[in-house]
Amino acid sequence: MTKLASVEAYAPASMGNVGIGFDIFGMAFQEPGDTVRVEYSDASGVEIVAITGDGGRLPLAPDKNTASVAVAHYLRMIDSLQGVRLWVNKGLPLASGLGSSAASAVAGVFAVNALFGEPLERKALLAACLEGEAIVSGYHADNVGPSLLGGITLITGTAISDIRHLPVPSDLHCVLVTPHVAVETAAARAVLPQNLPLDHIVRQTGQVARFVDALYRDDLAAVVSAMEADLIAEPARAHLMPHLDEARRIAKRAGALGLVISGAGPTLCALCGGRAEADATRHALDALYQESGIGATSRVTCVDREGARIIRSL
Ligand code: HSE
Repeated sequence: MTKLASVEAYAPASMGNVGIGFDIFGMAFQEPGDTVRVEYSDASGVEIVAITGDGGRLPLAPDKNTASVAVAHYLRMIDSLQGVRLWVNKGLPLASGLGSSAASAVAGVFAVNALFGEPLERKALLAACLEGEAIVSGYHADNVGPSLLGGITLITGTAISDIRHLPVPSDLHCVLVTPHVAVETAAARAVLPQNLPLDHIVRQTGQVARFVDALYRDDLAAVVSAMEADLIAEPARAHLMPHLDEARRIAKRAGALGLVISGAGPTLCALCGGRAEADATRHALDALYQESGIGATSRVTCVDREGARIIRSL
């Protein structure tokens, strides 16, 4: 096999929680995503040559960036002393609830593994990706898992055996709307309740089970209804998401089946049964945030079934 000189990988955005499954469900989106290009270096260690698309906000220091930390962990995993250089392009907004830190880590590790001739299989990359994600938002796999593996995932731990693929509803279209306000994951976690009444636990567990059952039956209306029934994160975080209730009302009026907070927010994800409904919903939500003076970035996308992938190699 010819030795590659340069590899660029894409890792998709993802939505932690998927509404009803706080810290246990994740979903990958076809767009947006981050790309990382990797090349060999004459120097040892991991260097970040440049980061684009972040407005100059992310650190180039290799011990502070999720991509370089993840790649350094990968090099230790395969016992390599080879140095590498990274170019990171952020397609994802920062602190938006779309798994930005995870996507950079996943793209970096996926690219370097391909550069080295794929000594590890895709699933074995999870551990290195988690190390990168951990420096920003702790050890959790509800973004790294779907970004690496694609699809809708159940995540019950941080080992690869703890991540299971769930069926993807055939007609699902997602409208992602990111209001122009920042919500740090740490701040959104600080407002969460530490205890829940027993009747909330019973209702939440029931809706989690209903969500999984509806996925297996490809019953999109029931899937979305279960997604919206969260009693853990949404009630505690609603005040951090501008116009959440109105956005849900407007989205449904435009044809969406429902709307949830993506991860820790502030991105909202409206769930639709077709492209036409999704386009109408996006239009309506754009108007809401424009008229309110906040502004928002929006797009229509679908579930990404593939996960991280190579987009260029030389
Ligand atoms: N599941 C986590 C949370 C992170 O809701 O805080 C999501 O990206």
